[in-house]
Amino acid sequence: MNKVLVLNGPNLNMLGIREPAVYGRMSLKDIEAAMTEIAGTLDLQLTFHQSNHEGQLIDWIHEAHGTMDGILINPGAFTHYSYAIRDAISSVGLPAVEVHLSNIHKREEFRHRSVLAAVMVGQIAGFGAFGYELGLRALHQHFVEAR
Ligand code: DQA
Repeated sequence: MNKVLVLNGPNLNMLGIREPAVYGRMSLKDIEAAMTEIAGTLDLQLTFHQSNHEGQLIDWIHEAHGTMDGILINPGAFTHYSYAIRDAISSVGLPAVEVHLSNIHKREEFRHRSVLAAVMVGQIAGFGAFGYELGLRALHQHFVEAR
């Protein structure tokens, strides 16, 4: 069974309340429950964390070294400027997938760039909460192909 660390960054604890027209009506708890169901069918074990603090996210990424097989992360606004999170992902060398609820490429200019994308297996954006399921499936396929 592969273990996946699921990280959500700043303001994602506000899902369901926060700009529902952009981010949908599901809460983070709802999304995590849906992911747990999918994980069962893919034989993945998930660990969920959310933080509004960059250093906390980095600590969890470091802890994943030697304990997890992959990372699924919605880094929130850190996507666009956190070289520290990028370096943390590179440091642990685990396959990681970046998920965004919204299509960051058709929003404000500052959201078009992800400083993390280059250290990811890939990026999923624009499919709402379903993107988390897609991300899990993508990581699962990555594990299968790496066997
Ligand atoms: C987001 C997109 C980011 O630009 C934004 O700062 C978020 C959420 C998304 O899921 O669409 O907090 O990562």
